[in-house]
Amino acid sequence: MQQQRFLLFCLWLQSFCLYLICANATAKSGDELTHQSIEAIQKRNLDILQETLPLGWKAFCDAPVDEAVMLLHNGINPCDAAIHVMTVNNRSIELPIKAISEITDFDINPKRKTLVYVNAYYTPDSYFSVQAHLKLLQETRRDLNIIIVDFARDVLQLYYTVRHHVAVQGHFVAKILNVIIQHGVAPADITVAGHSVGANIAALAAQIYARQTAKLTGQLIAIDPALMCQPADIYVHRNSSSRVVVIHGEGDVFGVRERRGTIDIYPNGIGFFPRRKLQPGCGTKICSHMYSFVLYMEALIESVMIPAVKCDSWSHFRKRQCDFKDAVALGLKYPDKAGGVYFCLTQPNPPFTFMEHGLRYQRNLAYAAKAN
Ligand SMILES: *[C@@H]1O[C@H](CO)[C@@H](O)[C@H](O)[C@H]1NC(C)=O
Ligand SMILES: *[C@@H]1O[C@H](CO)[C@@H](O)[C@H](O)[C@H]1NC(C)=O
Ligand SMILES: *[C@@H]1O[C@H](CO)[C@@H](O)[C@H](O)[C@H]1NC(C)=O
Repeated sequence: MQQQRFLLFCLWLQSFCLYLICANATAKSGDELTHQSIEAIQKRNLDILQETLPLGWKAFCDAPVDEAVMLLHNGINPCDAAIHVMTVNNRSIELPIKAISEITDFDINPKRKTLVYVNAYYTPDSYFSVQAHLKLLQETRRDLNIIIVDFARDVLQLYYTVRHHVAVQGHFVAKILNVIIQHGVAPADITVAGHSVGANIAALAAQIYARQTAKLTGQLIAIDPALMCQPADIYVHRNSSSRVVVIHGEGDVFGVRERRGTIDIYPNGIGFFPRRKLQPGCGTKICSHMYSFVLYMEALIESVMIPAVKCDSWSHFRKRQCDFKDAVALGLKYPDKAGGVYFCLTQPNPPFTFMEHGLRYQRNLAYAAKAN
């Protein structure tokens, strides 16, 4: 009886407290943070980010958004990132990032080569979806273990990723490397890859793993590594993995221009010079930034050969003064002795490759639009 009365008292007290809080909230709602105004600010944040992303990282990083309100958005916590793994029945499964230790319950076979692909780039689901391509990659290349880590399901998550979460995400990916290596995957059989911001997170993860274990992963494939909000966040360096392959794409406001790998491939020479040109078929810089991702996906998903030839510079390539015995193909396999700067010509539309014709400069094949 006594107890029941206490409980009733508590309930009464609770509702009283609730009443007070709600009363306060109602009082507040009159002037400032109503539910509606939060939604309005969030919508404005979204509009600002969609508008600034096509202008490059500087504009995106400096976007005048209300971060306090953005924090209320579901999905921008680093723990809201997702991992995609395959089951033995060829189904793609999405796990929360905190389930890293469970990934070896899925189809990860130490006898196969492994690709850990870090996505930290978002495209609206229109003509071209990064996420859709990665799913296709995972489903077609069953000869590989493919683990996809997605840190940018929407533009708000991308903003928090590039602005605040790079270091913690590098640690998440390093943990994935540790888990699969403990499962029996050889470090030398691992390719860590990523496009844009994802290339830097992948590089950081490979470096964290190297520091922790004094072992290197087999290779890093950095697809147009992002310039980021600050230079310290550009983690792609030659020492990140045994081999570092950089596939350049834009080289002005999105991607790094300078050499950063063992092998640096400049399709169509874009980004090799400060000269502002766009990739074939592209009308915008953001398209040039995406173009290298599309090329790489063509090579991996469709197993199309996209060769590039070693050449001292773009002007040597234009004069066909290259080492034609030293060619590489975009993909996962590179000759051990390959190293330096490589060029090729590619087309505006799929199939993007000119095959071996892309190795010898011809004016009528070279299509590069000037950026305005
Ligand atoms: C109600 O709001 C006022 C001013 O905004 C604040 O000082 C007070 O602590 C609030 N009371 C409760 C119970 O939240
Ligand atoms: C999964 O896909 C692979 C390769 O495409 C195929 O060999 C295998 O039989 C498939 N497994 C199942 C259970 O469908
Ligand atoms: C790789 O090189 C960079 C820049 O030279 C350096 O900051 C970093 O500590 C190096 N990382 C490793 C794992 O050696």
